[in-house]
Amino acid sequence: MTIPERHFVNDLSALPDDFVWGAATAAYQIEGAVDEDGRAPSIWDTFSHTPGKVDNGDTGDVACDHYHRWPEDLGIAGQLGLDAYRFSIAWPRIVPQADGRVNQAGLDFYDRLTDSLLEKGITPFPTLYHWDLPQAQQDRGGWPVRETAERFGEYAEVVAGALGDRITNWATLNEPLCSAWIGHLDGNMAPGLKDLTAAVRASYHLHLGHGLAVQALRAAIPNASIGIVNNLSPVHPATDSEGDRLAAQRGDGHINRWWLDPILGRGYPQDMVELYGVELPVRDGDLELISAPLDWIGLNYYFRQIVTGDTTGPAPHFRQVPGPNVEHTAMDWEVHGPGLEQLLLRLTDDYGVQKIYVTENGSAYQDVVGADGSVHDPERTEYLEQHLAACARAVSKGAPLAGYFAWSLLDNFEWAYGYDKRFGLVHVDYKTQQRTVKTSGRRYAELAAAHRLRGRRAA
Ligand code: IFM
Repeated sequence: MTIPERHFVNDLSALPDDFVWGAATAAYQIEGAVDEDGRAPSIWDTFSHTPGKVDNGDTGDVACDHYHRWPEDLGIAGQLGLDAYRFSIAWPRIVPQADGRVNQAGLDFYDRLTDSLLEKGITPFPTLYHWDLPQAQQDRGGWPVRETAERFGEYAEVVAGALGDRITNWATLNEPLCSAWIGHLDGNMAPGLKDLTAAVRASYHLHLGHGLAVQALRAAIPNASIGIVNNLSPVHPATDSEGDRLAAQRGDGHINRWWLDPILGRGYPQDMVELYGVELPVRDGDLELISAPLDWIGLNYYFRQIVTGDTTGPAPHFRQVPGPNVEHTAMDWEVHGPGLEQLLLRLTDDYGVQKIYVTENGSAYQDVVGADGSVHDPERTEYLEQHLAACARAVSKGAPLAGYFAWSLLDNFEWAYGYDKRFGLVHVDYKTQQRTVKTSGRRYAELAAAHRLRGRRAA
């Protein structure tokens, strides 16, 4: 198959021969079936059903109907030749209420999914938490309270007990920055708070929950390979001014260091603790739990941030300004492949991380379904290639990058933006639920196959 676009990469030979080619999704964004088989509402059900919170009033009620159509979706993953599939497990399917009762039907769903992936030779990479906190847990205080972290550890134990005999690779949290900062400070994601104290306390309990989940996974699965997934951005000052340079330092603290330092044993960055001015509810032993050794770090990369100072709101007193680059995705996010290389090298050289996965990377564009039913998406294809090239450059400079997960396998519910923003390698017609592999999906499969072939020839 020949794809008539300019290609950024034809040679990804710097990537290791056993490089993992994957794609990612998340439960609330694709599953639908929100009230089936004992699932209870999550904070995202509540948020999306609150008028004005999500574009077009969209909700995850049906989404891609993956809960029923998963055999077809895994079939597509197989056709694309994926080595691995990153999905998330819905806490509100497993422990729907605050009473701790386990819902076997919820576990059964992920059991079937796991077996089917393994039959297809696709390695499962589940994430325990991708933002769908059971509403019952929110009603008891949510992430700002310690109990939520403790319940998360118990939920992790249940899942590990059910699937740990077949699943080795585990992520605890997806993008805790979004849960804490966007959910509790900006108010643009569930639970929709605008409260710095709640946000800082939520960030702390998310970290604690991560630590407790690591403990539970290690206890249940001796050969577990465990990581956490953070969304990071290189942060640049808008100008050379002292004010902008300090804003970039605060931006880096808020976006990157706050999420890496405590996990990687450096404790919370003191400059940010002072800036937030919120006392962290630390108890003896917490910081050791939070920084328990991990097997890998997951990096979700979408864009860099160019910032200037802004003291109009609460800390952290910076705001993003448009960059000079005119290329933006439909999310209005700047397309900047070198930022991915930069972050991979920072994790390697500055933080000494020994194994990294790009756990998400991708782009939204306005896709058009052609008269022949095909979906030709040259911009997304170029974005993918540009970022894979950045991965290869980082590897050639020493980054221990073990794999890449395209976001996303399927078009899906893009949170507060609803269904208008499409990130999939596979187009979903939400009226008919028809799936169509886009040009980008075919190109991704082609690159993965060529890379594998090269590895086999070299062996
Ligand atoms: O869709 C999200 C995903 O849930 C988390 N990472 C970013 C993606 C694109 O916004």
